[in-house]
Amino acid sequence: MTAGGEGLDEFRDRYEETMERMFAAVGALYAEHWGEFFHFALFDDSEDGGSDAAWEAAFARTHARYAEALRVADASNVLEVACGRGAFAEYLAARTTGRVLGIDIARAQLAAAERRRRPNLGFLRHDAMHVAALGARFDAVACLDAECYFPDKAAAVAGIAEAMRPGARFLLVAWCRRERLGKAQARMVLCPLMHAWGIAGLETASAYRRHFRRAGLRLVEEADLNAQAQPNWERGYRRALEALRGFSPVSAARLLWNGLPVGADGIRLIEDQFAAALYIKAAFDAGFLRYTYFLAERG
Ligand SMILES: C[S@@+](CC[C@H](N)C(=O)[O-])C[C@H]1O[C@@H](n2cnc3c(N)ncnc32)[C@H](O)[C@@H]1O
Repeated sequence: MTAGGEGLDEFRDRYEETMERMFAAVGALYAEHWGEFFHFALFDDSEDGGSDAAWEAAFARTHARYAEALRVADASNVLEVACGRGAFAEYLAARTTGRVLGIDIARAQLAAAERRRRPNLGFLRHDAMHVAALGARFDAVACLDAECYFPDKAAAVAGIAEAMRPGARFLLVAWCRRERLGKAQARMVLCPLMHAWGIAGLETASAYRRHFRRAGLRLVEEADLNAQAQPNWERGYRRALEALRGFSPVSAARLLWNGLPVGADGIRLIEDQFAAALYIKAAFDAGFLRYTYFLAERG
């Protein structure tokens, strides 16, 4: 379902190509200006996220919370769905003797992830919509800041659930849209963001609860993380301004991944990132986007 019923169907119909092209164009840009983790660090109320040390500490705490929720130390087979540049998969692999597999659909992201390969860590180009087709069973599955791109969230959850062993845990950190959001509100704030980032649809938290139930997953914990993630969109906005001041088509071209001929289209995708930085801040500040944590378990 799209925000406010707006049709962004081209992204749903051609999600594989959209992801390939977008991350070939913007992956290196985000790594340069944001870092290797393409998800948010969680802060305590008392922190403002002003210093690099505060960011590192917040990421360390966030990742420790996620690894504990996944019981990764005791897991023998771990999957990260839409692993991006592989930094979180690497973090998990360092905390288990089990095997960790990161899958992603974008070759540019995987090319960066492959540098992290180690004996218990591997990466594979594979679609999150077809996790069951991996033919493996996992006792911990993580998916951070990526489900918004999936063309059918219910089908993705069902496929992941099928690949989970009894008692396995699934940690999903999702970009949900607020419940009962008006169409005009969605059109004004969410749709420009979705256009810039190739997002076909944003799910509500209640829809995810339904998907888990139908897939045979029990919800262990759900938390709205907007307050804890707040410094991230302030920082994203500041970093976008810095990138804007230093922007030139030549510097942008340097960031494009050469494995795909994204060319002028890639430069346009990079240009769109500034609009996305404005709208994401507005969408979170207005409360229309909800950064939501779900921890589910297979019965
Ligand atoms: C914002 S990044 C997050 C990456 C990583 N989870 C992290 O937190 O650093 C979103 C990732 O989702 C991947 N992705 C989107 N749709 C996908 C799909 N259908 N199958 C696999 N990966 C997908 C993209 O290629 C991209 O690497």
